[in-house]
Amino acid sequence: MTGANTMHTHDLPSAGLSASDPAELLAAVLRANAGTSNARLKQVMDALIRHVHAFALDVDLTPAELDLALDFLVRIGQASGPRKNEGILLADILGLATLVQLRGAREALARGGTEPALVGPFWRAHQPVRAHGESVATADTPGAPLLVKGRVCSLDGSPLVGARVETWQASPQGLYENQDPEQEDMNLRGVFLTDAQGRFHFRSVRPAGYPVPVDGPCGELLAAQGRGVMRPAHLHFIVVADGHKVLATQYFDIEDPHAHEDVVFGAVGSLLRRFEPDGHGGFGLDIELRLEPGEPHLPHCPLP
Ligand SMILES: [Fe+2]
Repeated sequence: MTGANTMHTHDLPSAGLSASDPAELLAAVLRANAGTSNARLKQVMDALIRHVHAFALDVDLTPAELDLALDFLVRIGQASGPRKNEGILLADILGLATLVQLRGAREALARGGTEPALVGPFWRAHQPVRAHGESVATADTPGAPLLVKGRVCSLDGSPLVGARVETWQASPQGLYENQDPEQEDMNLRGVFLTDAQGRFHFRSVRPAGYPVPVDGPCGELLAAQGRGVMRPAHLHFIVVADGHKVLATQYFDIEDPHAHEDVVFGAVGSLLRRFEPDGHGGFGLDIELRLEPGEPHLPHCPLP
């Protein structure tokens, strides 16, 4: 946004610009953007300029409110660092991140692909590769047993052999291991390679939901909106297979009290699942991960 900050009224043509006609002002700002050499940047900035002008008129934005909004953006940046990204959180709680992700996957979704969900801030590089059937939970991890069975396939249903399935989840206390001194390093995390039928399975414990961080400006906004701050219990997955786009998704516990009010709007469609009781105090989750053919591009891993 630094480019926008350098744009002042003295950049505008002085002749003929009416002080009372927003349409003239908008036209002048769009003319100022006309020389942008990057075609996509020009398209995006044209639309952004039109939308922010329309927005300001729509709500009759006051100078004091504009100051407040700009201060909010400054504080979003100041609250961000190597271990926390308040900007990502803002895109999440506005539903913008989910919108962009679902929109990007619309062709795959129309052909039966698995819904994507946000990678989130807790994926770690170098998660341990585990054998089929192994538990991702250390023996002293409390919680109800959970058996996860999965199948990875292409949009036509053909199994993807040797696909890399990464999973991570919070504990039954709603904490990832790197937030919780009580858990061993890499607890509730694992990497599985699919077999000749594209299958994998592992044991774990039923996770709990957790709140998004509320100690920054996003927390202030959520409080002002009177909104909840919880994410329903879920397991994360990233699946990488040759010749296919990377799928990042999450499966949510439909019995979680916040199942239908995910603060980041990621719990959509078939990603909400019933963790089926096994009759012995444990639960089972069966999933099918359908990937769209294409180039695999791994998303940025936020943590070492
Ligand atoms: Fe999560």
